[in-house]
Amino acid sequence: MTEKIYIFDTTLRDAEQVPGCQLNTIEKIEVARQLEKLGVDIIEAGFPVSSPGDFNSVVEISKAVTNPTICALTRAVKKDIEVAAEALKFAQRGRIHTGIGTSDYHIYEKLNSTPEEIIRQAVEAVKYARRFVEDVEFYAEDAGRTAEEYLARVIEAVIQAGATVVNIPDTTGYCLPNEYGAKIAYLKNHVPNIDKAIISTHCHNDLGMATANTIAAIQNGARQVEVTINGLGERAGNTALEEVVMAISCHKNLNFDLGINTRQIIASSQLVSSLMRVPVQPNKAIVGRNAFAHSSGIHQDGVLKSRETYEIIAPEEVGVDQSSIILTARSGRAALKHHLKEIGYTPEGEELDILYQKFLELADKKKDITTRDLEVLAGMEKSRK
Ligand code: KIV
Ligand code: ZN
Repeated sequence: MTEKIYIFDTTLRDAEQVPGCQLNTIEKIEVARQLEKLGVDIIEAGFPVSSPGDFNSVVEISKAVTNPTICALTRAVKKDIEVAAEALKFAQRGRIHTGIGTSDYHIYEKLNSTPEEIIRQAVEAVKYARRFVEDVEFYAEDAGRTAEEYLARVIEAVIQAGATVVNIPDTTGYCLPNEYGAKIAYLKNHVPNIDKAIISTHCHNDLGMATANTIAAIQNGARQVEVTINGLGERAGNTALEEVVMAISCHKNLNFDLGINTRQIIASSQLVSSLMRVPVQPNKAIVGRNAFAHSSGIHQDGVLKSRETYEIIAPEEVGVDQSSIILTARSGRAALKHHLKEIGYTPEGEELDILYQKFLELADKKKDITTRDLEVLAGMEKSRK
């Protein structure tokens, strides 16, 4: 039997807070509508107490989008919770996401507090949020660097206080996949009431481990993943939605059910990239320009014989029309023949050999060989004959 993994998108909160990525309300609604088309379960729409603009965006997104749950972030502070509840009043299903730092760095250095006082504040915040909404998610900020025994006490206390989802953020992107997975397994085994809540992952990418950590977490019992489009987010970013979704979808043996319309992945990536003004790196997994482009002769030959030799995902599955065979000085005869056929020219034998030599001479001088270049080469060869 497959198990549901909830997709919690925080592009409009964790990514939007990055300098340069700010969106206005109209742009946020456009992204939220696209996320709804993509099929995410929860949209974290903002941090309402942070500014009137963010408050207003949460209100307008709650009106514009009806399928996903709309979530608003707060600190473990009554005023934040009241403002979040007010911003969510139009949501069909609203969730308050409240929390506090639980690592020694947060308890002693940032908050100048004590472990017992943190638990008291966490419980109070969750209980207070439950007065406004039924769905309350608690985050233990910097859980990645929080001692397991203490983290388990915090999580048990907030579940007893009414948290429906418990978020275990690797806020600093510090954990290795086996450590993060073990942390989730520890909570599954040591928190008496853990089955009354959904365990959520929230991984940052400071060591490039965010996707691997997220997958390790779901293999150990987490059932919600917090992600962003294109992996945008604080510092090195968050777990990329497209990577987790396609990793799960490629590995059917994981047996998870996502409910994501993967064909909307490229459209979502392009929209967020253009509105947030952050170009997608060409080699970015799934959504980069080169993710479905084959350039070496050996690979091109294989792909032209059977796509599966070098493609683990069919490009159409993520909304890319087709993969491309790029012509460079590393391309082989098979790739050249394939492109020539597309412009209606089908040389064989010696004719193909001559053209291939001419093509290599040109490709050594020029980075990109265009259709026009091929037409010229083919035209020259035809007139020579
Ligand atoms: O990274 C983090 O810990 C967060 C929390 C506010 C959930 O973004
Ligand atoms: Zn975060």
